[in-house]
Amino acid sequence: MSKQFDVIVIGGGPGGYIAAIRAAQLGFNTACIDEWKNGKGGPAPGGTCTNVGCIPSKALLQSSEHFEHANKHFAEHGITATDVKMDVAKMLARKDGVVKQNNDGILYLFKKNKVSFFHGRGSFVKAAEGGYEIKVAGAAEETLVGKHIILATGSNARQLPGVPFDEETVLSNDGALRVGAVPKKLALIGSGVIGLEMGSVWRRLGADVTILEGLPTFLGAVDEQIAKEAKKAFDKQGLKVELGVKVGEVAKTQAGVTIDYTDAKGEAKKLEADKLIVSIGRVPNTIGLNAEAVGLKLDDRGAIVVDDECKTSLHNVWAVGDVVRGPMLAHKAEEEGVAVAERIAGQHGHVNFNTIPWVIYTSPEIAWVGRTEQQLKADGVKYKAGTFPFLANGRARALGDTTGMVKFLADATTDEILGVHIVGPMASELISEAVVAMEFKASAEDIARICHAHPSLSEATKEAALAVDKRTLNF
Ligand code: FAD
Ligand code: NAI
Repeated sequence: MSKQFDVIVIGGGPGGYIAAIRAAQLGFNTACIDEWKNGKGGPAPGGTCTNVGCIPSKALLQSSEHFEHANKHFAEHGITATDVKMDVAKMLARKDGVVKQNNDGILYLFKKNKVSFFHGRGSFVKAAEGGYEIKVAGAAEETLVGKHIILATGSNARQLPGVPFDEETVLSNDGALRVGAVPKKLALIGSGVIGLEMGSVWRRLGADVTILEGLPTFLGAVDEQIAKEAKKAFDKQGLKVELGVKVGEVAKTQAGVTIDYTDAKGEAKKLEADKLIVSIGRVPNTIGLNAEAVGLKLDDRGAIVVDDECKTSLHNVWAVGDVVRGPMLAHKAEEEGVAVAERIAGQHGHVNFNTIPWVIYTSPEIAWVGRTEQQLKADGVKYKAGTFPFLANGRARALGDTTGMVKFLADATTDEILGVHIVGPMASELISEAVVAMEFKASAEDIARICHAHPSLSEATKEAALAVDKRTLNF
């Protein structure tokens, strides 16, 4: 006899586990199926984000930043730190510990919210009376029937054609987070979010890092002024990024790997490295769902086709997160998960795509919300811009990190905030104020009139808002 549920979520990443918790909170009898295995074969819910994405990458970014500070910045505070060494194995073990805390936290949350968790692969069997029949293939086989199905099966790293990941020499994000010793020479293909974050980790630890990027512009989706400022900082750190390249043959050698490419001037070049990280985007994952059995519609990228409400082509089947259109971000997946659970309950779940923040956790951090200056120009919107450099911020000087700026873009007529862009210390935290402001349709003047604590980096946000009206107080 199959187990019956009101809601079955397939995938336990940020989209899926959050959807399951919200559905349970709303009173639905809910199951979540996730197949991720930890090193011992046990369950490791949390998806890409927890296991090989957001969380472990931030753990390594933190460790490597401490190392860089100890080596390069302690001295200016009067601290002598000689013979600073990085124990890579210990750093990786700490990262694994952080991941495990998050896995365990999710299992605890399932218990607390009475979500039934199934460890294994979930796939469609058929449309059944009262919903859909779902098979769980794991340590044990089970058949479940759910009235509503939420698909949250995430994404996988995209491979370079003909260059499969071996996770030893040619690494995806997974292998990039497990490199056991600092490579002398590290090559990356793709200077997007992963390229810059993982490139930063291993550069800080001493690797000679070169990133090959196909596009002629650096961080094309980022506001140009902010991207330029970030590039200046990365150049100074020695993080080499070659733009406008065309990658040719990638060959594994005894020593590591060679990458033939043509540079922006059309010159043929060869890059030799111990390891190669390929970070050229991710592809939606529907492998193993047996979507054909029920006729679930996918688009030509392999993403599950959904409408604005995350409804798929099938009645009562929903999909959220990386496996559908939109930015591949954990917080976007979570918001969709909550919204879908609420829609199933007849509520008006809502995700505002215009106020989803982006953060790149390099040093300096890069964070933004809303439209860039180049987008506003392309859209023919009349806007005012205001910037404030961290160089003129007291807290940034005290921290010893005055790189970058806060930039506001506001409507020329109404003063409504259209975009906020930050490059500099703690941009990841500062951006929240801008998100709140934009959600409430605040004007730049609203932020300029709000009292911000002194001394704090957030004063740079207030000053950038004042700059929109050309009346900064400290610059
Ligand atoms: P996933 O997290 O991919 O979860 C999907 C889950 O479903 C997985 O556990 C998978 O095993 C499971 N699954 C798939 N098919 C089945 C099946 N048939 N049966 C059972 N289980 C199945 N985003 C941010 O917002 N901030 C960051 O700092 C950030 N850093 C990142 C760093 C890296 C290196 C990478 C790779 C990604 C990062 N991301 C970050 C992106 C973020 O990880 C994803 O956007 C997010 O994980 C998507 O969540 P999801 O729930 O849609 O899918
Ligand atoms: P990405 O889309 O951010 O960057 C990929 C880069 O590779 C682009 O600049 C692209 O032009 C380049 N590229 C593509 N094909 C190429 C080729 N053949 N040769 C050379 N360059 C090529 O993708 P990335 O870095 O793999 O990350 C995937 C996604 O994961 C991100 O888009 C983001 O959604 C998510 N992520 C989010 C993070 C965060 O929020 N801090 C951190 C890491 C990942």
